[in-house]
Amino acid sequence: MVIAGLRRLEYRGYDSAGVAVQTRGADGQWLLATDKRAGKLVNLEKSLAETPLAAGTTGIGHTRWATHGGPTDANAHPHLDDHRKVAVVHNGIIENFAKLRADLADRGHTLRSETDTEVVAHLLAEAYDGDLAGAMRAVCRRLDGAFTLVAVHADAPGTVVGARRNSPLVVGVGDGENFLASDVAAFIAHTREAIELGQDQVVELRPDGVTVTNFDGTPAEVREYHVDWDASAAEKGGYDYFMLKEIAEQPKAVADTLLGRIGTDGRLTLDELRIPDQVLREVDKVVIVACGTAFHAGMIAKYAIEHWTRIPCEVEVASEFRYRDPILDDRTLVVAISQSGETMDTLMALRHAREQGAKVLAICNTNGSTIPRESDAVLYTHAGPEVAVASTKAFLTQLVACYLVALYLGQVRGTKWGDEITSVIRELGDAPRQVEQVLGTMEPVRALARSLADARSVLFLGRHVGYPVALEGALKLKELAYMHAEGFAAGELKHGPIALIEEGLPVVVVVPSPRGRSILHDKIVSNIQEIRARGARTIVIAEEGDEAVVPYADHLIRIPATPTLLQPLVSTVPLQVFACELATAKGHEVDQPRNLAKSVTVE
Ligand code: AGP
Repeated sequence: MVIAGLRRLEYRGYDSAGVAVQTRGADGQWLLATDKRAGKLVNLEKSLAETPLAAGTTGIGHTRWATHGGPTDANAHPHLDDHRKVAVVHNGIIENFAKLRADLADRGHTLRSETDTEVVAHLLAEAYDGDLAGAMRAVCRRLDGAFTLVAVHADAPGTVVGARRNSPLVVGVGDGENFLASDVAAFIAHTREAIELGQDQVVELRPDGVTVTNFDGTPAEVREYHVDWDASAAEKGGYDYFMLKEIAEQPKAVADTLLGRIGTDGRLTLDELRIPDQVLREVDKVVIVACGTAFHAGMIAKYAIEHWTRIPCEVEVASEFRYRDPILDDRTLVVAISQSGETMDTLMALRHAREQGAKVLAICNTNGSTIPRESDAVLYTHAGPEVAVASTKAFLTQLVACYLVALYLGQVRGTKWGDEITSVIRELGDAPRQVEQVLGTMEPVRALARSLADARSVLFLGRHVGYPVALEGALKLKELAYMHAEGFAAGELKHGPIALIEEGLPVVVVVPSPRGRSILHDKIVSNIQEIRARGARTIVIAEEGDEAVVPYADHLIRIPATPTLLQPLVSTVPLQVFACELATAKGHEVDQPRNLAKSVTVE
């Protein structure tokens, strides 16, 4: 039953998996039987087929999307305490695990994995005094970060305890049996009656009942509901497509990528970025290599890196990079951006860079994949698995990671003062709310997309960081709606492409803020007038309060006001929704567009 549940959750993460079952030993004593394997779930299933676990009616399981520690057998969940009395599985990030880990080691515990999760198993074993839910509450009060935890104890047969903070956990209420899972997909085959858990709550499951308390021990208010999805829809969280789910997950993905990046002293701490600060101080050029959407993220990163650090920054499509005989040496920092971490073009580019003596930093969303493994350092995005081929939440988290790298370089090299960095981080911290706000106003964008289902072509214009956003919007439309779409630097239009403008041609224009760099804003308003005068149907993305664009916008899409460099975090979202809806209107299979693959592992 647990394995079947994991199969339904495997899309959420699949770099290792494990189970723990309560069973009786030969002497009648209760114990935990466990098995866990790196790799896809099928590896665990093979192991269980060869050496089955003893029978049991209470168990937990986990399929992992690694954050701390690569995908190995040792790092796979469940994690156990020294005496194998407690087994725990975890989703999320425990920000203060390093201190907790050190204290446990000081108290004589032996930690056998690189994960943050393992500390919880040892803490639960210490806190357990016959009441597992009480032990869970006590431990959760000591944890910082975002987490879902589920645990069993050999001395508490028939009991499963879970806890959640800023990470999903839902209860399935059966007849004489109860379930816990990250989402209903895992148990929908057994029951559609569910209980949604609130923030900072602990749930105790027994075959005959469910008890929910707050971390402080007081009884918790919970909401029971009936799940009306079918199993396959449940995997998509009730959305018709993974892409829609992943667009909706962007606020959380951005927030998770920012988690744990600021030390108690207010300085940036990028713990996986294992390039010595002194080496970063001597860097005299940054070269970003990536493909497709990741390349567009790199183009935006260039503006931030050059503005905040004054280091020259080049951006190159990975497939061109090594064939142009680039000038690289040991003072070049190459940044390889890749969601999958397996894109062959990008991998070959970073191998070439390392052969030339450059330092390579990977920005990647897939722990333990090839690109981070072959780089000198890595900064992981925490978007969670991105299943849809068209990249959305990975793109926004790549931007966040690029901003963090630029700020870190500024911090290390002293070109950005602490208070300047803190203020940008604070503005970044506002991005999840702003993305959420944009997502809440997308109905007119979906209606517009449906009205353009028969358009032959759509152009996208932008200036400054809006130019890569225009390219990204065009790419989304190409790969989803299979129609001609092209992005331009708005200033470049008059040098030829304006000949494409004809009556009724839809042109999307990403308008920079009128605050700050108003010269850019005024020029792009002129560009909108130029194309409208020639019959274009103008679709204008502009920040709230920007009234100058109103007379020239056939369709006006408002986004929240943001600092210039951070605007792509909000201006990209309407373009994702537009492309997805237009493709849906054309009846296309949105998650797996024709001719494409999620990870292009050939050159
Ligand atoms: C973007 O929507 C596409 N799926 C594609 O351009 C993708 O961004 C590119 O193939 C790079 O993939 P990576 O980030 O996994 O390296």
